[in-house]
Amino acid sequence: MKLFEPIQLGAYQLQHRVVHAPLTRLRNTENNVPTDLMVEYHRQRATKGGLLIAEGSAVSAKLGGFPHTPGLFTKEQLEGWSKVTQGVHEKEGIIFSQLWHGGRAGSSLYLEKGQQLIGSSPIAIQKMNIMTNSPYEVPREATKDDIQDIIQQFVTAAKNAISAGFDGVEIHGANGYLIQQFISTSSNKRTDDYGGSIPNRARFVLEVTEAVVNAIGAGRTGIRFSPWGGEYIDAVDETSYETYSYILEHLNPNLAYVHFIEPRDDVLRETPDLENSLDPFRKIWQGRPFISSGGYSTSPELIATEAENNVNTLIAVGRAYISNPDLVERLKHGWSLNKYKREYFYTSDAVGYTDYPIYNDIVTTADSTEQQEEKAS
Ligand SMILES: Cc1cc2nc3c(=O)[nH]c(=O)nc-3n(C[C@H](O)[C@H](O)[C@H](O)COP(=O)(O)O)c2cc1C
Repeated sequence: MKLFEPIQLGAYQLQHRVVHAPLTRLRNTENNVPTDLMVEYHRQRATKGGLLIAEGSAVSAKLGGFPHTPGLFTKEQLEGWSKVTQGVHEKEGIIFSQLWHGGRAGSSLYLEKGQQLIGSSPIAIQKMNIMTNSPYEVPREATKDDIQDIIQQFVTAAKNAISAGFDGVEIHGANGYLIQQFISTSSNKRTDDYGGSIPNRARFVLEVTEAVVNAIGAGRTGIRFSPWGGEYIDAVDETSYETYSYILEHLNPNLAYVHFIEPRDDVLRETPDLENSLDPFRKIWQGRPFISSGGYSTSPELIATEAENNVNTLIAVGRAYISNPDLVERLKHGWSLNKYKREYFYTSDAVGYTDYPIYNDIVTTADSTEQQEEKAS
């Protein structure tokens, strides 16, 4: 089965194609420092030659990120991450860090007094911010100097990630955050050379990527997109096929991978989109590693078929990896999966985080219960 065949991913030879999708879980300290619980979580899910993409990490203190999400900008945060990466490496796993800038989806509550959020254009998301339980704020439109500063924040965060032992980074260009705010027509109304035409809306993401590549190497850099996934925070593009085709054609061709969220994804979208398809993007990126994500958690069969039918495809799994620390083994043997418990996605302790059982433990417990029952009868 292709899913369990090795594949070269940039600088790394992976032993299988099941990837842990980036998953924000709010188990960091209030000051964005990864905890020992996170060391345990990642260690449980690490496999030899398997790729874990760690949750979105704020690239700097200047973006208004949230308490209990991780950062990559203080000594303590990097020390916390070093323990996580060490745990994964002890099991011969590979771990990338996801570099996050929320743009207008942050909150000025977490900025220095008097500072404002920065976005592509001064347009607020027309929803409540569930992290602060208040309406989203109108951001300040990024100036050219801000843009250069933010690119530098990504570069510094990428170098910091490598210094904390990460094998590479994934630039978060998905889910309606800053990069997608620049890409999408609904959130980018700029009239300078970062807005308007497709090449202009693509300029920011291409510049961020090239700067990160120059800092840490293309083989250690990946990027994530969700052409139809920005909708939940109002980052909708009128020309997704054309826009993302242009981006792929102009991205550094030697990136470790591109990672796309399927339009059928039902985590961010209220209604899964069953009409659109990633196939045109697969075609442009053919011959190189393409990670597909979204909608696999409810269908182990789909994971295998997609990897089988698409050359150079890896499958990133979110919710089913949350609830199955031994997901890779379960898929390999066709064992049943634990169900995820949504109510613990964003809580703060081990419950619903590191306490999901592995298959062998369930089987052993069931066997010994059966034996005890036999003895008793
Ligand atoms: C609890 C939770 C947290 C998430 N956090 C992130 C994140 O930090 N970065 C990101 O790009 N996507 C994030 N996602 C989206 C997942 O990476 C993935 O795309 C989504 O869960 C769909 O995959 P699935 O159907 O296998 O769950 C998150 C999803 C969930 C359920």
